Amino acid sequence: EKEKTLAIIKPDGLYDNCTDKIKNAIFDSGFRIVKEMLIQLDEEAAMSFYAEHSSRSFFSSLVKYMTSGPVLIMVLEKENAVADWRALIGPTDASKAKITHPNSIRAMCGLDIQKNCVHGSDSPQSAQREISFFFKEKSSGSAVTEH
Ligand code: CMP
Repeated sequence: EKEKTLAIIKPDGLYDNCTDKIKNAIFDSGFRIVKEMLIQLDEEAAMSFYAEHSSRSFFSSLVKYMTSGPVLIMVLEKENAVADWRALIGPTDASKAKITHPNSIRAMCGLDIQKNCVHGSDSPQSAQREISFFFKEKSSGSAVTEH
């Protein structure tokens, strides 16, 4: 059974040739990119997307980071997409990932626990919620590319 997950290439992941490296890793691992949208998040959208972290000390810093430049939102599809994408991106803290998961995307393109270059839904339930957060209606005027 095919499953979908939400992936985000964060502002730091869109620098240099990281986007290409990340997309190559996505295709090499057998994912299909079914939707893709390059957007600039505003504060309200970032706060709402990360609402579950609103009480954390890093929340305002996270919102500032996620609004610091464009982000690439993608819906990825394959069998076991949620868990497989989480495995491919590696641990949240990119500086630790460089040691423990050197082949992971965060090790390759991330910097630290905040600037970790990519996001992945943490469960099938989160994936559904996060996908509909960004791709609710097709006529919203956003630059949605369907493949
Ligand atoms: P992500 O997987 O998108 O989910 C929440 C994000 O918050 C996380 O990646 C990091 O970018 C950021 N984050 C998580 N923990 C911390 C932390 N302790 N300090 C700063 N940022 C964090």
